[in-house]
Order: sequence, then C-alpha cells, then structure tokens
Amino acid sequence: MKFRSQKLAYWFFATCMLLFALQLVYGFVMGFARIGMDGLHEFIPFNTARATHTNLLVVWLLTGFMGAAYFIIPEESDREIYSEKLGWIQLISLVVVGVVAIAGFHLNWWEGRKFLEIPRPLDFLVVVNVLAFLFNIGMTVWKGNRYTTTSLVLFFGLFSAALLYLPGMIYFHNQTLDSYFRWWVVHLWVEGVWELIMGSLLAYLLIKLTGVDREVIEKWLYVIVGLTFLSGILGTGHHYYYIGTPSYWLWIGGIFSALEPLAFLGMALFAIAMYRRAGRSHPNKVALYWTIGCAIMSFVGAGFLGFAHTLPQVNLYTHGTLVTAMHGHLAFWGAYAMIVLAVISYAQPLMTGRKLWNNMTGLLAFWTSNIGMTSMTGAFAVAGIAQVYLERRLGMDFLAVQEEIEIHFVGLILAASLFSVGIILYIYNFIKFGLPSDEMIGVSDEKMTAGAGRE
Ligand code: HEM
Ligand code: HEM
Ligand SMILES: [Fe+2]
Repeated sequence: MKFRSQKLAYWFFATCMLLFALQLVYGFVMGFARIGMDGLHEFIPFNTARATHTNLLVVWLLTGFMGAAYFIIPEESDREIYSEKLGWIQLISLVVVGVVAIAGFHLNWWEGRKFLEIPRPLDFLVVVNVLAFLFNIGMTVWKGNRYTTTSLVLFFGLFSAALLYLPGMIYFHNQTLDSYFRWWVVHLWVEGVWELIMGSLLAYLLIKLTGVDREVIEKWLYVIVGLTFLSGILGTGHHYYYIGTPSYWLWIGGIFSALEPLAFLGMALFAIAMYRRAGRSHPNKVALYWTIGCAIMSFVGAGFLGFAHTLPQVNLYTHGTLVTAMHGHLAFWGAYAMIVLAVISYAQPLMTGRKLWNNMTGLLAFWTSNIGMTSMTGAFAVAGIAQVYLERRLGMDFLAVQEEIEIHFVGLILAASLFSVGIILYIYNFIKFGLPSDEMIGVSDEKMTAGAGRE
C-alpha cells in the first residue's frame, strides 16, 4: 500500500462483505419459500425478498467497485486520493442510504422497476453520493502524476455507469416506455459499461500478478472496449423483442447480442494468454485464481449462457422463466462478484501487511464457492427447462408448473449451502487478515514480495 488514503478501500471492502452475506440470507428465504417453507411470509414475502436480494447484490458490487477504485487509482495516478475526508463521508452516506432502502423494502416502500426498486427520493441521494465519489476519483486522476489507460478506462466505466442510472429515473405512464428505458440501465450496465470496469480491473490485476508489460496488457484492453461497444449497445435489442416495440428489434437485437460473447471470450483469452506469458511468479496465487477464474466464469455465465437464450426464436419461450435466473446467477457471479473478490484478495495482504496468501482457507473458499455456484446454476437450469416445457410448450397453468418444479429447489438449497460455506470461509479469511496497518504505508507490492510484512 503505497498511499495512506488507500486504507479507505478496506472499509468499502468490509461493507461489501457485510452486504454480500445479507444478500445470501434473502436468497435462502426465497429458496425455502419455493419448497413451501414460507414461515416468514408475513414479514418477508417473496417479492420483498427478491427485491432485497437483487438490490443488495447491486449495492455490494458497486461498493466493491468503489473500494477497488480507492485502492487502484492512487497507485495508477501516483498520488493520494484527492480528498480522504470526502471518501469517508461518501462511504458513510452510502451505508445510510442502503440501510434505509432495505428497511423501506420491508415496509413496502419501493417501485416495481425490477433491479431499480429503490424509491425516487432515495434515488436522488444515490445520485449525490455517486457524484461525490466521481468527483473525488476524477480529481485524483486529473491531478495525478501519471495517466494510464487502465485508470482512464476505469474512470470512464464508473462515470458512464453513473450517467446511465438517470434514464431509470424518468417517470412513464406507459409500460412499454418504462420498460424500454429500464433496459438502458440494467442492460447497458452489465453488458456495457460495467464490462469496462471489469476489463480495467482485470488489466490492473494481470499487470501486478503476471508481470507482463503494461503496453501489452493495455492493448488488449482497447480490443475489449471495442468489442463491448460494438456488440453491447445495439445488443440492448434482445430485451425489446416482445414488449411492444417495433419488430426490427428482432433482427437488431438477435444479431448484435449474439456477438456479445466475443467480448467475454476476449477477456478469457486475454487472461489466459497473460498468465502463460507471466514473467514473474507473484506469491499471491489466490488472487491470481480469482482473476483467471473471473475471466473464465464470466465467459461461461454471461457469454455462453447468455447466448443460450438471446435469439428471438428461443427467447420467445424462455423469457422471464428460471432460465433467466440460471443465466443471471452465473453471469453476475463470474463477471462482477469474482472480480471484486479478486481485487480484495490482491489488496488484502498489501493493506494489512499479513502474508496469509495461499492459506488453506483462501483456497477452499475459492473452490467451494465456485463449485457451489456452478451447481446452483445447474439446479436453476433443470428447473427452468422443465418450466419452459410444461408452461410454454404444453400450456400448463403457471402455478401448477411451479409446484411440479419444486423438487429442483431442494437441489438449489443444497448447492447454495455449499456455495455459502465458500463465502463464509472467504469472509472468515477477510476477518483473519485484520485491519489495515499504518506500517504498510509506503510499502509497495515489490517490497512486500521481497520480504516486508509479517506472517
Ligand atoms: C456479465 C454480464 C451479464 C450479466 C450480469 C447478466 C445478467 C442478466 C440478468 C440479471 C438478467 C435478468 C434481467 C431482468 O429480467 O431484469 C438478464 C437477462 C438476459 N440476458 Fe444477461 N447478463 C449478462 C450478459 C449477457 C450476455 C452477454 C447475453 C447474450 C449473449 C445475455 C442475454 C440475456 C438475455 C437474452 C436476457 C433476457 C432474458 C429474458 O428474456 O427473460 N446476457 N441478464
Ligand atoms: C445462498 C445463495 C443464493 C440463493 C439461495 C439464491 C436464490 C435465488 C432465488 C430463489 C431467486 C429468485 C428466482 C425466482 O424468481 O424464483 C434469486 C434471484 C436472483 N439472484 Fe440469487 N441466490 C443466491 C445467491 C446469489 C448470488 C451470489 C448472486 C449473484 C452473484 C445472485 C443473483 C441473483 C439474481 C441476479 C437474481 C434475479 C434473477 C432474475 O432476474 O431472474 N444470487 N436468487
Ligand atoms: Fe441484456
């Protein structure tokens, strides 16, 4: 940790761990409700649990991106964060908004805009918070002693993500219009600008962990940005097939979204190629696992499983079923959860000075959570395929079908338990590392690798 203000990142990461754990609790509430164990129904009905589960996901990932930026930008810009104080204010206000939003969901204070359920007054607070964050990071980059492609792409990704939040705040009476613009947020985030955030974080980690030249790595980053924009922008059309928009979207959405996996394939090939060229052997193997794992799992979850239902002929049958949940889980996990966990794994020894890299807990956390999430994806897949067949081909009643597929949720709960063991191990390890240490200020990655720090 070269700069004092990088310590801020630690507290963003700690918040991340807390919100992530809470997200899983709501996942279980839904899983059990699905098999008829719905004792909490009065307090947490399924729709509340669902909104809380997905919004917590989005908030902990954004908190993780912010933490990553507070750790990476000082190093890339070679200076302290512009205002450490503003960073603290921003973290605290983010937590306050989050707590109010979650409490509100339980009191039925929310809007029916899937993934963007936070009510309007809180939206404005989110906007103010994110503006403070962008100002702080932007000024750090601007006044920096060094500009790198990695930091510029990271900033541009974060900036565009904030900008794209706004179309989701316009009020429409018309359902089609409302849906149309909701996708500018949800789709253009995960299949557009978040990919730039992911690409730049991958680039940063690969530079640090493989020792391959920055020039080589950043050239790949340009290719990824290009592929993302080429496919992802018009790929939005895959959500416009049957919602009341003109039929040309069937062609545009089908063709361009079918190209989207290329960007994820690019990232996977990129990570593997850099790994194979690795000049130096960084001792933090667990961080490397999460980094390469992220590139590969995002290709499977977003690229492969996204393609599986993106053509209009297929989506006609699968839209809004558990096939979507199957894809949503592995895509979010592979691309965005894993990249945040990768950055945390890399930064942790450098912030705390503890050389706990590659301990058994860390390795087990990696394998258990990944095997667990892969199994969860399998459970959602069989449930989803059965649902599509019974409901959309045989024409059975919606609720009768839900009862037929109940058994697959027993499988889901088992898989989710395995997954959760992995995440508990990860959080346990996070706590074991301890708090950030002032002794580490000014100690670079190279110095630590060469001997600084303690066991
Ligand atoms: C990391 C990137 C991605 C993430 C996190 C992600 C996540 C999600 C989520 C959560 C949904 C449900 C959204 C909602 O109903 O509000 C969804 C829908 C969808 N995704 Fe992705 N996705 C990603 C990439 C992709 C890619 C690359 C493709 C295509 C190749 C794709 C194809 C689709 C399709 C077609 C739907 C609509 C499903 C339906 O009609 O119900 N996704 N995605
Ligand atoms: C303990 C682990 C988890 C369990 C038991 C669980 C369970 C569930 C359930 C039952 C649903 C609702 C599906 C339906 O509509 O019936 C859901 C939705 C969702 N979960 Fe999870 N989940 C877990 C962890 C995660 C994680 C780690 C992520 C992200 C990395 C995630 C992302 C999502 C998303 C994006 C949706 C919405 C999917 C859609 O739009 O169709 N979940 N989850
Ligand atoms: Fe999409």
